[in-house]
Amino acid sequence: MLLYNNRIAAALAVALLASTAAFAGDNPSEIKQRIGAGDPVAGKEKSELCQGCHGEDGNSVMPIYPKLAGQWADYTQKQVRNFQSLSRINETMNEIALTVEDSQDLHDIAAYFASQKMMTGKSVPNEAGRKIYYEGIAEKGVFRCVKCHGENGKGEPLNNNLFPVLGGQFKEYTVKQMKDFRSGFRGNDHSGMMPRIAQNMSDAEIEAVSEYLSGR
Ligand code: HEC
Ligand code: HEC
Repeated sequence: MLLYNNRIAAALAVALLASTAAFAGDNPSEIKQRIGAGDPVAGKEKSELCQGCHGEDGNSVMPIYPKLAGQWADYTQKQVRNFQSLSRINETMNEIALTVEDSQDLHDIAAYFASQKMMTGKSVPNEAGRKIYYEGIAEKGVFRCVKCHGENGKGEPLNNNLFPVLGGQFKEYTVKQMKDFRSGFRGNDHSGMMPRIAQNMSDAEIEAVSEYLSGR
């Protein structure tokens, strides 16, 4: 646990000190980087159950089911492990996560979703949300999201296992996660960053940044 926390602290320090984040997109080397150790071809078949809710290519249709397309495999795996151990609570996922105990299966499933073209949404201009994303809210100590989640919310290649892709995700889902961090219901961010950030944000600020992100 200590080692894990040190690793997080080190990665956070890198992210906070780094100058401009490189754009994380869909070129072959970026896709390879986010796939990690799994086999996306095997993962396609192994993820049939998941596709039922999260979409065949990881682009779900209903906002209660987050998009997984182009998400870093390491992040997806961490969430599934967290659902298994009940350090992240969602009745549906807590049950389904138990069907992928085998770590090779989990590597492959996460690699399959990671190999897809990164999620996108319909662009929604939200200036207040854009400002929060790129500048934070200094007077409330809310960090700039871009420092950890990268340009357009497309993630940080160097620290891919820690910082999820947010750009193109459903607004409703992002709002729910921010409120879950804020209330402490979602307690699986061991760095403590997201609860600290969300606690200083109003409903309106959460809505704004989530709407902005949904269109990236
Ligand atoms: C019956 C529908 C359903 C199925 C099937 C399903 N999920 Fe989910 N999944 C959900 C819901 C609902 C959430 C949102 C949980 C929340 O609100 O926190 C979710 C969330 C997730 C997340 C968190 C995403 C993020 O951005 O943090 C991951 C990862 C995930 N599911 C992976 C999987 C995998 C892998 C499978 C297949 C083994 C799977 N899911 C099957 C309903 C489903
Ligand atoms: C210092 C780094 C850092 C900053 C700054 C930061 N985040 Fe995060 N964020 C994280 C980490 C780490 C996680 C992953 C938590 C986990 O492992 O479950 C995360 C997860 C999230 C998630 C969950 C995504 C999902 O798919 O479920 C959302 C939403 C989010 N952040 C939004 C934001 C917003 C909005 C801001 C700016 C107001 C922000 N973050 C600023 C580090 C950061």
